[in-house]
Amino acid sequence: MSFYSQDLVEEIRSRSDIVDVISGYIKLQRKGSNYVGVCPFHNDRNPSMSVNQPRQIYHCFSCGAGGDVFKFVMEYENLSFPEAVKVLADRAGVALPKQEYSKEAKKQVDLKAQIMELNKLAAQYYYYTLRQPAGEQGLQYLLSRQLSGETLKKFGLGYADKYSDSLYRYLKDKGYTDQLLKESGLMQVDERRGMYDKFWNRVIFPIMDIRNRVIGFGGRVMGDGKPKYLNSPETAVFDKSRNLYGLNLARMSRKPNIILCEGYMDVIAMHQAGFSQAVASLGTAFTAQQSVILKRYTNEVLLTYDSDEAGVRAALRALPILKEAGLTAKIINMEPYKDPDEFIKARGAEAFQKRIEEAESSFFFELRMMERGYDFSDPQSKTAFFTALSERLLLFEAGVERKTYTEAAAERYHLTYDQLSSMVSQIGRKTGGLKRAPAPVPAAREQRKKEPENAELRSQRLLITWMSSDERAFRSICKYIEPEEFTDPLCRKVAELLREQWASGRLTPASLFQYFTEEEEQKKVAAMLYDTIPKLSGEEEEKKALQETIRRVKLYSIAWQAEHMDQNDLKKLQEILQRRREIEKLHISLD
Ligand code: GTP
Ligand code: MN
Repeated sequence: MSFYSQDLVEEIRSRSDIVDVISGYIKLQRKGSNYVGVCPFHNDRNPSMSVNQPRQIYHCFSCGAGGDVFKFVMEYENLSFPEAVKVLADRAGVALPKQEYSKEAKKQVDLKAQIMELNKLAAQYYYYTLRQPAGEQGLQYLLSRQLSGETLKKFGLGYADKYSDSLYRYLKDKGYTDQLLKESGLMQVDERRGMYDKFWNRVIFPIMDIRNRVIGFGGRVMGDGKPKYLNSPETAVFDKSRNLYGLNLARMSRKPNIILCEGYMDVIAMHQAGFSQAVASLGTAFTAQQSVILKRYTNEVLLTYDSDEAGVRAALRALPILKEAGLTAKIINMEPYKDPDEFIKARGAEAFQKRIEEAESSFFFELRMMERGYDFSDPQSKTAFFTALSERLLLFEAGVERKTYTEAAAERYHLTYDQLSSMVSQIGRKTGGLKRAPAPVPAAREQRKKEPENAELRSQRLLITWMSSDERAFRSICKYIEPEEFTDPLCRKVAELLREQWASGRLTPASLFQYFTEEEEQKKVAAMLYDTIPKLSGEEEEKKALQETIRRVKLYSIAWQAEHMDQNDLKKLQEILQRRREIEKLHISLD
């Protein structure tokens, strides 16, 4: 939410040249009409980020990050929009009027912002307590786990002392209401005792989102008490299925993979040993949303699940979820230790690095776990194993993928490819042909389905690219196409906004971003605005291509209407057919 007027935002934008601003953060080099640099938002060494000065936008061709100058500052400095406006206003010497933070606006700051603020205060309070005489026991505990002072600081570790109302009183003194304290998840309420702290007599692990904002806490007993960990409940800002512990640091790690562990302590021990790509889920099973988030930062995930039964089960559950998001997964063997924390303490970072390099592919890991249930010296059990193996192979798409895995498995069990392959076909026929794996993660699957880069969408996006490229093109295109004719909702919205901008004076594509709040939408908009028009051999060619694209988009719109109309309405059908003939004959003149 912004407290600033549109005019003021545009004023600041006009004085904050995107190339100047981004150059203040990363090194940019001129390349043709653009500037390029190493994208700071994902692990990379290549200059995948491109900055377009005329349009005042940036876009990373590798991770898809993109937006205007405000967005860059927000992302890079982990700021909210109003905070980024302030940074750029200060930089450009534009004074921000005080009254823009009106009482009304303040009241409107939503619950989320208030909870974030409370969380920050609580984290500071715990952090401070750890370093007081009252925190002695907590500090001793963390030091006994061989954490360095630097690590305590980096993770903001803290301590909730032995009284069950210290934080409550601290926050009440600052004037917060019981209602808000209750919604923050920092407090517990019961009939008899009223409201009191959720955490006491525990060391505290603040949980941060990728923008380094504290969204929740984990608290561990010092010793063997139960429960070992308490975690904040889900709140307006804490969604356990969409965040990962340590991702705020791991995303900046510039490592070729991300290491997924089970516990907070594992993540911390790994970072301390130099494995800054470690993350963990938040005391709950790994989710499809988390895998989609990881895919933004890496293509390969290494698992370091505990080597006990529960850990193996958790790993086996995570594998299909990772695969569904398009990630390759490998498993790090930690034998004979239970978890990475113990491994590193016993053997050191170099030995762990070696285990990373020796990580086992997820398929072989699955096979090894499957083998455990069978006795190969018993012919019957052995046959049962090969049946199970064939069923597993049938889950791969028929074709290259299945062939590759069948080959690998045949080699492992000293069979020929033909032997195993015919076993697979035989089982396949018996179990009713191609049995597909039950969709393990509907969320990720749906997300991909919704997004076919089909010809229809491509034409619409291309037309937007064209419309935003220069005013002359915009003017001539507008004569032939209405925003409603875009069937893709995002394209339609961009077309409408461009129209509005034009009507009020001037095209400023960069200022479109503020109308899109979702990360994914912003990325798509950035991609459209950033795309370049296919280079054609001459102006004539280009004109022809543009005419074709306009016609196609118009025809798609008609086709869409035909599909969505009441199929019994013959009059409407006639109208549509008539429209279609007109479009086919339409003379599109672009001068
Ligand atoms: P240490 O035992 O201190 O080394 O911690 P750890 O991080 O290795 O924890 P562990 O492997 O035992 O558990 C993995 C994760 O599961 C923890 O980081 C917590 O998020 C969660 N967890 C563990 N025990 C509990 C519990 O008793 N209650 C809840 N809610 N979560 C737990
Ligand atoms: Mn542990």
